[in-house]
Amino acid sequence: MQINETMNAAFNDQITMELQAAHNYLAMGAWFEAAGFSGMAAWMHAQSAEETVHAMKFYQFVLDRDGTVALGALSAPSAEFDSVVSVFENGLTQERAVSASINNLYGLAMEQKDFASLPLLDWFVTEQIEEEATFSQILDDLALADGAAQPMLFLDRELGARGAVAE
Ligand code: FEO
Repeated sequence: MQINETMNAAFNDQITMELQAAHNYLAMGAWFEAAGFSGMAAWMHAQSAEETVHAMKFYQFVLDRDGTVALGALSAPSAEFDSVVSVFENGLTQERAVSASINNLYGLAMEQKDFASLPLLDWFVTEQIEEEATFSQILDDLALADGAAQPMLFLDRELGARGAVAE
């Protein structure tokens, strides 16, 4: 079923939002690398790659439904952060914004009776629960570590394991 113009435009905005998230996580990865946290940098690189996969899911969906992909402009991400904690706080804020956007897309699909979009959006609703939970868990771990060298090193190694798997 061909996608209507309203849904097409909303999906295009979501593609851009996911690519912006990829862009932002890449910048966070660079900050971690420069700060000496190579494991956290690898984790952010994996997270950035995952956001590109998210963008491509919407991209392919629009094309499969005879829509038009129109990419929006990306803005320059922050390159400076106050602390390791502030980077992950920034990430959690971003994930909450993405969750709200997916929620709005779901509402729009219902309003437009665009039921063909619901299986894809269901996937994203579940994914966003996981995304927010992951960032919250890391922030909890960082709060426990409280900046002490040994737990921070352990966390960096642990998060780096994800990067190694994703690469
Ligand atoms: Fe694709 Fe992390 O939201």
